[in-house]
Amino acid sequence: MCGIVGYIGKNKAMPVLLDGLRKLEYRGYDSSGVAIFGKTLQTFKAVGKIKELEKVIGKNKSDGTIGIAHTRWATHGKPSKANAHPHSDCTGKIQVVHNGIIENHAELRELLKKKGHKFHSQTDTEVIPHLIEDLYKGDITQTLQEVLQIIKGAYGLVVFCQDEPEKLLVARCGSPLVIGIGKHETVIASDVSAILQHTKQVIYLEDGEMAEVGYDNFRVFDAKRNLIKKDIESVLWNIEEISKKGFEHFMLKEIFQQPESLKNSFNGRISFENGTAKLGGLTEVADRLRDVERIIIVACGTAWHDGLVGEYMLEEYAGIPVEVEWASEFRYRNPILNKRTAVIAISQSGETADTLAGIKEVKNKGALVLGIVNSVGSTISRETDAGVYNHIGPEISVASTKAFTSQVAILALLTVFLGRQRRMSLVMGKRILKELSDLPEKIDEFLKDNNIERIAKKYHKAKNFAFLGRKYCQPLANEGALKLKEISYIHAEGFASGEMKHGSIALIDKKFPSFFIAPKDSVYEKNLSNIEEIKSRSGDVIAITTKGNKSLEKIADDVIYIPKTLEMLTPILATIPLQLFAYHVARIKGFDVDKPRNLAKSVTVE
Ligand code: M6R
Repeated sequence: MCGIVGYIGKNKAMPVLLDGLRKLEYRGYDSSGVAIFGKTLQTFKAVGKIKELEKVIGKNKSDGTIGIAHTRWATHGKPSKANAHPHSDCTGKIQVVHNGIIENHAELRELLKKKGHKFHSQTDTEVIPHLIEDLYKGDITQTLQEVLQIIKGAYGLVVFCQDEPEKLLVARCGSPLVIGIGKHETVIASDVSAILQHTKQVIYLEDGEMAEVGYDNFRVFDAKRNLIKKDIESVLWNIEEISKKGFEHFMLKEIFQQPESLKNSFNGRISFENGTAKLGGLTEVADRLRDVERIIIVACGTAWHDGLVGEYMLEEYAGIPVEVEWASEFRYRNPILNKRTAVIAISQSGETADTLAGIKEVKNKGALVLGIVNSVGSTISRETDAGVYNHIGPEISVASTKAFTSQVAILALLTVFLGRQRRMSLVMGKRILKELSDLPEKIDEFLKDNNIERIAKKYHKAKNFAFLGRKYCQPLANEGALKLKEISYIHAEGFASGEMKHGSIALIDKKFPSFFIAPKDSVYEKNLSNIEEIKSRSGDVIAITTKGNKSLEKIADDVIYIPKTLEMLTPILATIPLQLFAYHVARIKGFDVDKPRNLAKSVTVE
């Protein structure tokens, strides 16, 4: 989604702003812009990639030491120079970059137009600088505080006023903003990755807070305009973690990182002796968890698929009924909850607007709210009562890979933890944990030797794909289809293998290949019948199965072998070929794997 960078300091602002925008590119955008203040105030905007903006800037590089910049992901108004941020008032003295959506923009625009304000874009954002201009009486901090009482909706904002050039104003409501405190410089961004190169000391603004920042000073106010004290926190991620480390794409790097990221997810969290998981983030709620009678998992996209795997695990091994909800729907339900319900939000970014809205609602209703989140300090991690961090470092590729395997691993740990609080035996606890700890080596083994690139070459021209699986691997069918769709733009659908015959099998012909996830597990024979059904209708079949199971070679057109593990942990291994297949198809087709069209890494709007 949109990205924000702001700089005020002793150094030239332009390189910092452009570098920051490049770091935020992975979030997805369609246009960008910069406003920079040196001898004069200059603005530059472009449609397309950052290199287009650089072309527009050309030799005009300003010496200014204060500036704001933005990458826009269109919501109100098509991608165009006019709609790109920063937006300004009628005089051009007030410049604003904004993430989020101002819901009452239409009525504010009408009101301001009647007062004579001239608008130049179709965006909701443009009402903000005009409103500031309308109310400004010489104190930009006070004016912005007044404006924040009027605008409704979600925002992360940075404001610059030419009449008070020694400060930037920052405000947050529902759209993240981080203030990096450096040595004689302050860098503001919507994501820490744009700050890390300059400082690891940051302040996370909470919803309703506003800050006034200079190069060596800052003041933070709460929603009631009181000055408040904020802690400066240290970011644990390193700058190297946001480089490709020699891989052609972040997605490939993140796929290959999985043996290590998975280990980081369970390191220090396994007690073999007691056959249980040690989840430090849940210690304070452990007693309450013992009484939990129902779990609702709330998530979006890939995280939702993880939740579905978790549903099978938690019901089978911990004996707790589980429902998995799309956060975008859950937020509009009136769920029946009580003190014995735990709601688990799963989110890599910790900033997904729908997931956040879902948990805010249930918190009011008394349920225990837990998070499985990767981004430390993110909004969801702070809004939940307790939770578990993934510890996999930043995931940059829009297509989520290492987050999926880590989230399933955390759900497995949670299953053991809750199971051992209930009826799970010591032996079973030990067995699951042992198998889990063996997985990094097995992923490594698969990554070193597989036939996925060859299979991708063979099938990359297909226009449709079906992905099928049962039980623990059914959610993987949806995940495999999502991965292929989002980066290769091929139509793909995920099915429960047994559902195909109830209608969708009508689609199958020799141009419509099917990807079966059919490990040698408790439902293998059932999958086999479904594979036969597809073959009888001339459909090509690519099957993922367990190493050593040669029987599929007689039926399927192509077979991919994954190492053996426990049935409940198979999704962690079986997702790797699906990730690699999507990656290679997209690469062969020449698409921008890390920045797929129309998509954003962190979806901070509804
Ligand atoms: O940051 P989150 O885990 O909350 O994101 C949820 C989805 O937007 C995300 O998983 C999305 O589906 C990915 N692009 C899938 O690869």
